[in-house]
Amino acid sequence: MPHLLHIDSSPRNDRSHTRRLTAHFVQRWRDSHPDGTVTYRDIGRNPLPHVTEEWIAAAFAQPDERSQAMQDTLQLSDVLVDEILEADSIVAGIPFYNFGMPSGFKAYIDQIVRVGRTFLFNPDNGESTYTPLVHDKRMIAVISRGDGGYGPGGRNGSLNHLDPHLRTVLRFIGVNDLEIVAAENDEHGGAALVDSLESARRRLMRLANDDPS
Ligand SMILES: Cc1cc2nc3c(=O)[nH]c(=O)nc-3n(C[C@H](O)[C@H](O)[C@H](O)COP(=O)(O)O)c2cc1C
Repeated sequence: MPHLLHIDSSPRNDRSHTRRLTAHFVQRWRDSHPDGTVTYRDIGRNPLPHVTEEWIAAAFAQPDERSQAMQDTLQLSDVLVDEILEADSIVAGIPFYNFGMPSGFKAYIDQIVRVGRTFLFNPDNGESTYTPLVHDKRMIAVISRGDGGYGPGGRNGSLNHLDPHLRTVLRFIGVNDLEIVAAENDEHGGAALVDSLESARRRLMRLANDDPS
């Protein structure tokens, strides 16, 4: 039974383009995967904690050496990692903030990039110190930006630090199949926004219909 993890991270509610676009994807995905199941995680309305000194000590301790307090500290992170490992596909709405990801989504990334759970650290292997532990996932990142021209070769292309950051950190844990669907021009409005949203919706519809999971 195919399983989709649906994440929203915009602090905006009805005005959020990424929320509308991920909802559109999920609706189409349900239509084309009638036996599929969906887990929803809203980190925009329910922000995640940032990592703390206690969290770091617990995450980097050997699992069999963790105290009960350390296990409790990692409980939410473990749930978030399980959600990823249990999914076949992930769709995540991510607003573009100050040329990168919003702090709420970065807090999520810090919770799921976990030694021993989503990657291994092999200090003695000179060729490859890291091994990804996540396999066979497709992720669709749905991004909305206020200005336009952030694509490759565009007038703001060199300011787009979100796409490369996402690709790097997701590849690090093993999510190599990443589709980035971006809408632009929220701050311009008018036809430029409408056209961009329409082309994002069309692409999401194709991705939902073709999703192999
Ligand atoms: C704190 C903040 C920072 C932003 N930084 C940028 C930016 O660097 N470049 C840009 O084009 N738009 C920027 N925007 C505009 C958002 O990317 C745009 O409103 C987008 O639609 C937000 O996603 P949402 O509609 O899902 O909330 C910013 C908006 C906010 C609130």
